Amino acid sequence: MKILAFNGSPRGKRSNTDRILHPFLEGAMEAGAETEIIYLKDLEIKPCLGCFTCWTKTPGVCVQKDDMAPLLEKMRLADIAVYATPLYIFTVSGLMKNLMDRYLPLLDPHIVKRGEHYGHPPRYEDENRRIVLISNCGFPERDNFSGLVETFYRFTDDPDSELMATILCPMGELLGQSALQDSLRWYYEAVRNAGNEVVELGHITPETQAILDREIVPMEVFLSMANAYWDSQIAAPKAKKETVEHGRPLSLPATAPITLQDMIAGMPLNFNAEAAGDLQAVMQFDIGGEEPGQYYLQIAEGRCVAFEGKHPSPTLTIHAPSEVWMAISRGELDGTQAMMQGKYSIEGDLNLLIRFNELFSGAGADER
Ligand SMILES: Cc1cc2nc3c(=O)[nH]c(=O)nc-3n(C[C@H](O)[C@H](O)[C@H](O)COP(=O)(O)O)c2cc1C
Repeated sequence: MKILAFNGSPRGKRSNTDRILHPFLEGAMEAGAETEIIYLKDLEIKPCLGCFTCWTKTPGVCVQKDDMAPLLEKMRLADIAVYATPLYIFTVSGLMKNLMDRYLPLLDPHIVKRGEHYGHPPRYEDENRRIVLISNCGFPERDNFSGLVETFYRFTDDPDSELMATILCPMGELLGQSALQDSLRWYYEAVRNAGNEVVELGHITPETQAILDREIVPMEVFLSMANAYWDSQIAAPKAKKETVEHGRPLSLPATAPITLQDMIAGMPLNFNAEAAGDLQAVMQFDIGGEEPGQYYLQIAEGRCVAFEGKHPSPTLTIHAPSEVWMAISRGELDGTQAMMQGKYSIEGDLNLLIRFNELFSGAGADER
């Protein structure tokens, strides 16, 4: 079985689209399929001219001489075509739209009743139009994909065609966050299973689909991370501009007032019991860099106690170089932004990290 996949993101191999497409194709290959990815951004596929020459003067052949002709040949012969596209204005990206419009030569112009609707039959008998749709988008809600899905239902609304499966990932920008890769393993595993199932069964099982349709992180975590990301990006050019206009800001003196161990030991002083409520959690610090060490904070019954060592089942583990964690603790670095920039990573309950400032906003914070 041959699977031809189109990646319609202008970001190509760095796209969130590719982060979903790869495990899908890996799963398909495990089930014995032969796969190929076409990165549309690397090809010249001009917009359709609307001249219908491919239906009249040169049936099956487009007047435009670009990279589309060999693709049409590949599309005809593939058993399954995967359309993988970011959501752009509630539909496919421009790159993907050009590809879809330029599909016209593979259709016969006559309008006949095909199943439920009138449409154009395929030009060639051996043509296969079994399609998988993969998409991700920036917004958090699944119904952002409704227009896109409708487009693909109509695109495949023909007895010779089938929309075999859809994998739709809202909050898609989080797929690229290195700090989240460990916590997203379950998602990529489900995508891999989906690839396997499409080849083996011709569809995604309801069990796998249910996993794929889960939120990849809770809404409040998404909002906090997404907006912190945009803040970090908007702030960066401003800082650069100031540097150019007013010279380099002086570095802070290197003499750190306390060690990282002191800093973690002092965290219970800043613990806000009221904000914690009945929270029970263990926050593990796996510290590297200049002052490596293992520490954890145990939060239970409105108290927070710091320990040196490794807890067997922490709720959240923070893997950070000591310099980074010191800078965050001193307020020199924004914790969420530093994570988005890959300066440290986490494992476990993201909600706990999101609550960090609130949990350690006690009276002691000002005295430090
Ligand atoms: C021009 C443009 C239009 C977009 N339109 C939407 C949209 O309608 N809805 C949405 O949720 N996200 C939208 N996004 C966000 C992208 O879907 C999101 O950034 C996605 O993760 C990009 O995926 P990629 O890395 O595979 O290209 C848009 C982005 C761009 C650049």
